Amino acid sequence: MNAAAKVLRALKETNGFISGEHLSSSLGISRAAVWKHIRRLREEGYQIEARRAKGYRLKGGPRGLNPVEIIAGLPEGTIWKEVHFLERVGSTNDIALQMARGGAPEGEVVIADEQTKGRGRMGRNWHSPKGVNLYLSFILRPPLPPSHVPLVTLMAALALAEATEEVAGLRTEIKWPNDLLLGGKKVAGILTEADAQMDLVNFVVVGVGINVNMRREEMPGELRSVSTSLLLERGEEVDRLTLLLAFLKGFDKWYKTFLRGGREEVLRGWEERSAVKGRKVEVVFLDEKIRGVAQGLNGDGALLVKTEEGEVRRVVAGDLKVKEW
Ligand code: BTN
Repeated sequence: MNAAAKVLRALKETNGFISGEHLSSSLGISRAAVWKHIRRLREEGYQIEARRAKGYRLKGGPRGLNPVEIIAGLPEGTIWKEVHFLERVGSTNDIALQMARGGAPEGEVVIADEQTKGRGRMGRNWHSPKGVNLYLSFILRPPLPPSHVPLVTLMAALALAEATEEVAGLRTEIKWPNDLLLGGKKVAGILTEADAQMDLVNFVVVGVGINVNMRREEMPGELRSVSTSLLLERGEEVDRLTLLLAFLKGFDKWYKTFLRGGREEVLRGWEERSAVKGRKVEVVFLDEKIRGVAQGLNGDGALLVKTEEGEVRRVVAGDLKVKEW
């Protein structure tokens, strides 16, 4: 965590004034550095009162997303290292991929307020207007074989579903592999891209897009019947920062559970929120159509589908439709 974020967190945790001396000794930085960070926070829109002999007091802050606020809102000891906030990008996944190829470590996050070339799965676009939704990508370097990468996507979907329920009070359904639905319409999607050798992943970039406060008029016509946003379902805006922090904390928890050997917990958590198990499905991947009954997930996060011929197929990607019986 950078020092300005630490100063901000200390100010937030204090009711009233905190002395410069206390800040300097508790954070292990000089008084001059404390002052420098206070100045930087003020430049970012924080109102910080300074009183001789009393110290500093936080009176208010900017609204919306900014990296200091995000980092200051995360507890110590999470996997999240650095947050890069950008007003406008082509795609946060492209930036994160570039950073990962350049050697950026696990836990770096790229967030944008707007994407001009947001990408979805299977070469689709991801509509990403300014200031209303969340668009983020993060880098992981999990000690996994490439075949287990789908598990990372499942963890992200699970953490996002939980965060949405906690912050917006809406229970989303996970549609395999990684869509979140509300009332049958898509509210979030995840695009996971990996770079791997034969038997080991070099890095994974997980891109998460969630329609938070997007209004109907902000959606292109063709999306209106199939997509929704938290605002549209709830009738009230959702604070993007609170949702983002809940997601980042939740993902950290699931990722650590997984690394400690809790894969079964991840799979069960996912299955509980997915409506797919036991249902008749059709998965289209490239030019193949697999029809059958979804059996649930296997250990590497792939979907098992039992076809009418009784064969159990393992499906790792594709577009799934749930069929009526
Ligand atoms: C899908 O459901 O097709 C996946 C959508 C993923 C969208 C997110 S938004 C942030 C990140 N950057 C991108 O270009 N795509 C992902």
